[in-house]
Amino acid sequence: MKKEILVLMGGISREKEISLLSGRACVKALKKKKYKVKVLDPKGNFINEIRKIRPKIVFNSLHGRFGEDGYTQSILESEKIKYTHSGVLSSSIAIDKEVSKKIFINKKICTPKFFIYNYNNNLNIHTLIKTSKINFPVVIKPINEGSSIGVYICEKKNLSKNLKKLKKYNQILVEEYISGREIQVAVMNNRALGAIELKPKRKFYDYHAKYSSKAKTKHIMPAPLEQKKYKEILSIAKEAHISLGCKGITRSDFRYNNKKFFLLEVNTQPGMTNLSLVPEIAAYRGIKFEDLVEWMVKDAGYDR
Ligand SMILES: Nc1ncnc2c1ncn2[C@@H]1O[C@H](COP(=O)(O)OP(=O)(O)O)[C@@H](O)[C@H]1O
Ligand SMILES: [Mg+2]
Repeated sequence: MKKEILVLMGGISREKEISLLSGRACVKALKKKKYKVKVLDPKGNFINEIRKIRPKIVFNSLHGRFGEDGYTQSILESEKIKYTHSGVLSSSIAIDKEVSKKIFINKKICTPKFFIYNYNNNLNIHTLIKTSKINFPVVIKPINEGSSIGVYICEKKNLSKNLKKLKKYNQILVEEYISGREIQVAVMNNRALGAIELKPKRKFYDYHAKYSSKAKTKHIMPAPLEQKKYKEILSIAKEAHISLGCKGITRSDFRYNNKKFFLLEVNTQPGMTNLSLVPEIAAYRGIKFEDLVEWMVKDAGYDR
């Protein structure tokens, strides 16, 4: 009998296009592994569709809000359907950069200094930056987006202009800018798989640097670090994954100033496109893309 699976892809977040790319790659891999695959592009509450299909298991290939933040997970949970990646609470904590940074601090995991700026309380942002002892440039970003959407690196002179662009979020994160290197770590089954360094040609690892091969971000696998430092970043990522209670596979994003690693975030639904980093790290460890995808399904409980 063929193993049946439902792949959720697309969705309503600003990362819809990336989710479709990840989803298509995973559908192909699942078909190679002889799964009978159905696909659903959920628009908001998809409880009626899911009740019609009644899948045994869901491969969640959604990114960003609604798909990665606990909503989709709680719908599947309430329908008693197994699904890949992290559960409700871990997903909603990890997507919230304020809450997750507070947990990192609590676990003594280094993360850039920050504060939350609220557009409605009329406090002067320059005063807040000064009292938080943060130097320019600063990074401003939405609390719960992904794919570098709405991330701006600001000097004193262009802060006000960039701040206006994020006004619709009501609240944003203002973070110390960490100059140096961009390194990301994949964690699989509570064990760190490897660290990769990204060298974007653009000003930073923005949306285009992440997803356009034309932007020519250089990927260096494994990240060229001395052995002790390589082990250190792996162990921080593992600790972060465990401290947020994550499951399956995650990817932690770091900045490295050649002294310390600063953890920016843990991604509970890391990209699975052909330029994505988790598959590249896995490949380096000898895990083929289709085996990685099948592992996620088995980890979610198929055949168990
Ligand atoms: N504090 C920071 N210092 C330096 N670069 C940063 C900082 N915050 C974000 N960036 C840059 O922006 C990218 C996206 O930021 P991140 O916090 O990972 O949000 P997203 O969820 O959009 O990926 C990072 O990979 C990095 O290149
Ligand atoms: Mg990131």
